[in-house]
Amino acid sequence: MQSDEIRVAAGAATPSIHQFGDKLRHPRTIAAFREFVAGMRHYRATGSTERLAATPLLSINLDLTTACDHACGHCVDDEVINTGPKYSGDNVLHTIDTLADRGLCSVILIGGGEPTLHPKFGDIVRHIKARGLELGLVTHGGHAHKIVKVAEEFQPTDWVRFSIDAATNETYQDIHFGQAGKKPRNTLAEILSNGRSIKDANPAIQLGYSYVVVPPGQEYHGRKLRDNIDEIPGAAANAREHGFTYLSLKPCLIKRELEGETLMYGVRPDEIAALTARIRDRIAAAEAVAGDVRIVQSQNLVALLAGRLDVLREQPAICYAGFLRQVVSPFSIVHCPAWRGDVRAQVGTKLGYADPQAAAATAAATVQNLLHFNATRTCADIACFYNSMNRSIEHVIESDMPVEELEPSTARDTFL
Ligand SMILES: C[S@@+](CC[C@H](N)C(=O)[O-])C[C@H]1O[C@@H](n2cnc3c(N)ncnc32)[C@H](O)[C@@H]1O
Ligand code: SF4
Repeated sequence: MQSDEIRVAAGAATPSIHQFGDKLRHPRTIAAFREFVAGMRHYRATGSTERLAATPLLSINLDLTTACDHACGHCVDDEVINTGPKYSGDNVLHTIDTLADRGLCSVILIGGGEPTLHPKFGDIVRHIKARGLELGLVTHGGHAHKIVKVAEEFQPTDWVRFSIDAATNETYQDIHFGQAGKKPRNTLAEILSNGRSIKDANPAIQLGYSYVVVPPGQEYHGRKLRDNIDEIPGAAANAREHGFTYLSLKPCLIKRELEGETLMYGVRPDEIAALTARIRDRIAAAEAVAGDVRIVQSQNLVALLAGRLDVLREQPAICYAGFLRQVVSPFSIVHCPAWRGDVRAQVGTKLGYADPQAAAATAAATVQNLLHFNATRTCADIACFYNSMNRSIEHVIESDMPVEELEPSTARDTFL
């Protein structure tokens, strides 16, 4: 079953922001995608990797810093947060230039770390937009004045997403600062009013209220995580009241040393049915109060609720997504967000795209890594976001359709 079918089976709206297959046929990406398909077919026919190494990255997750002043108990990147590696403003700008010259279309500023804490945050946003790239920003929202200063740079396909994960201040404090010895930095009321200030500065910005859904009984690195399922409807009401465009729901991932980012790790199969019924019920209650706020469920949440996580855990041997979208961070470049900081997915150092020569070496390393990584085995425990994209790419590569016959799509953006 394809992931799109899972959504339909689960009765969920198909969120266009997650339809990666269509995005590869966006008018900006289709030429590179045709080349990639041709390069992959050429490799299969001849063993030559030369054409694959010319594949441009279309979209990156760019981690500007590992610094963060929040302390979320569930933070999937907690092992790299505040560990010190830095990216100078110049390195970031050179990386953006090199990748834009090669064909990059979109950048998501995110972390391991809080992007607005980078000292050159504003200059970097301006530069990304000056290079004509689409821009997404994932932030805890506590430093919104820095975003307000560059708000006019954002265009209608660009977005800012606040990671909030709660509907009441008590739960917000526990989730974002509840670890022993951590000082609260923000209240929920401040974060919500920060959202409003960004929307006031540029009403065209798509503003997301991100919500990591934490089931009961989850533990991460010895920390007991707070069940926040009952607050999903309250989050929809907050989002509506404070001018957010959408509420983004995704299940809590638990990162494990060997398996990577796992989902529902340790939850017994007989507990899952009751849990999913409870989440479904709370999402229905959220829909009832959401008004114009769109409720977007991640692919892995939809699969979880449909009882079909198994589909997202069956990866093809070659992860095609890794050729087209990578994570560029101050400690390494990896070909997948699920493997941030993991040497198995490393294709370069932080300066791997800082100039054209380095980029050629990183592209060659990408090809070698992905041809030997074996996603079927290495990602067997991951309910992969890119599963449907990988399946649709494989389908195209294995068909005999001439690449020129791939038609452009009407996808709204190019974020992967
Ligand atoms: C690690 S944060 C870094 C960016 C920024 N500091 C923020 O909080 O949005 C990036 C995204 O990962 C999400 N995230 C963190 N831990 C997660 C987990 N265990 N499962 C699912 N998403 C998680 C956060 O909610 C956030 O949306
Ligand atoms: S199959 Fe999925 S989890 Fe594995 S490397 Fe590819 S995108 Fe990442």
